[in-house]
Amino acid sequence: MGQDKLEVLLSRSVIERRVWELAAQISRDYEGEEPLLVGVLKGSFVFLADLVRNLSVPCRLDFVQVASYGSATKTCGEVAMVKDLGGPICGCHVLIVEDIVDTGLTLSWLVKLLGSRQPASLRVCALLDKKDRRVVPFEADYVGFPIPDRFVVGYGLDYGEKYRFLPEVCVLREAAFQEDI
Ligand code: PRP
Repeated sequence: MGQDKLEVLLSRSVIERRVWELAAQISRDYEGEEPLLVGVLKGSFVFLADLVRNLSVPCRLDFVQVASYGSATKTCGEVAMVKDLGGPICGCHVLIVEDIVDTGLTLSWLVKLLGSRQPASLRVCALLDKKDRRVVPFEADYVGFPIPDRFVVGYGLDYGEKYRFLPEVCVLREAAFQEDI
């Protein structure tokens, strides 16, 4: 399965512990509320599933899917909605859940769009934050791990739709790109 191309960056236990901490912080911040968690497909599906099972406040769930155009490893800056929310968010406490902030283009676009729909509040929780790659300023409200500028897969993240199933976050070594081109 090509696991030799992979180097574990964040182990299952490290992720588990941090997701528990994030969920505790989010539960404190939304005490007495029932936030709407919006998962950004596809990459957030594993993180979101683990996060909600650690929350101690009730929540509702919805999903969006956005496409940012470019190659498998680079984006060219255009973002478009593939699947929109199932309903209005006016008056809701919305928490967008993402796997990674990279250039910041996807989330800055999505926050602007959802922010225009009059939510009661709008925050972002991202498991991974690759600050070195930003092309637009963007800060998530909750961040699991700042990570270096390496191409990562697993725990929901893919390369050409592969590796999403891995339980760890792994660096995909350079050789893997050359083989697949
Ligand atoms: C990834 C990730 C974010 C986005 C971040 O999605 O899930 O949505 O890229 O990149 P940015 O900060 O440079 O905009 P991707 O387009 O790979 O789709 P996927 O979630 O279906 O894997």
